[in-house]
Amino acid sequence: MDSAALAHTEHTRVKDYPGWLAQLLKRRRSRRFFSEHPVDRDALERALQAAMRAPSGANTQPWEFVLIERGPIRDKVRELCERADEEFHRRAPEWLRQFFAGHEITPVKQFMARAPWLVAVFGRRDLPFWLQSVWLAIANFNIALEAEGLHSLTYTPTLDKNFNRLLGVDESWSCQAVLPVGHGEADEVLTHRPRKGPAEKAHIVTGDGRLLPFDARLPFEP
Ligand SMILES: Cc1cc2nc3c(=O)[nH]c(=O)nc-3n(C[C@H](O)[C@H](O)[C@H](O)COP(=O)(O)O)c2cc1C
Repeated sequence: MDSAALAHTEHTRVKDYPGWLAQLLKRRRSRRFFSEHPVDRDALERALQAAMRAPSGANTQPWEFVLIERGPIRDKVRELCERADEEFHRRAPEWLRQFFAGHEITPVKQFMARAPWLVAVFGRRDLPFWLQSVWLAIANFNIALEAEGLHSLTYTPTLDKNFNRLLGVDESWSCQAVLPVGHGEADEVLTHRPRKGPAEKAHIVTGDGRLLPFDARLPFEP
């Protein structure tokens, strides 16, 4: 038996799973207010490593992570993002405006100045399945940050090439998210954002072709 086949037969459940993973996924929350408390450099690098373990179409790894330090550059980044957000909020459908209002989300992005890092995640549009792959890398990054005791927000301003020019990155890269990374302010009020579980969001197609709700048996806390 070759080593790859052997590894496969020995592929067992990771120790302490599902406890630690369930805990991480459940306690991760989007944070919109950050302290200036610095971020451990190795923790950030480990989270980047986790991002880069993501699967990607034909293993093309079409992501590029650009880490923006604090400093005058942030004023310009913030200005571009806030301008884009004002336009987005102006054009948003009514239901989304109500969501923003109910959750105190405005185009004012205080976190852009305060978080120790802003991580702009770009996709290489010339590569296959780039969009799907970039988002898998972002998901890995988010959960690894949580594991490191760091906070973030999946922030998705609609940015154009002016943003690429500002950062000096290739104009063909497409910015998908600008993620603040740091420690959330202790007094940020987090409203509950319930989740639907497998009973509502998973389905089974039976052998004879009927689509049925998944028969969930385990407890799931919204
Ligand atoms: C693809 C995506 C885009 C998002 N864009 C924004 C955004 O532009 N601004 C923002 O404040 N939150 C944004 N969010 C955060 C969501 O509002 C948040 O994840 C959701 O309400 C659930 O809350 P939680 O992350 O605290 O569990 C985005 C999340 C995702 C996954």
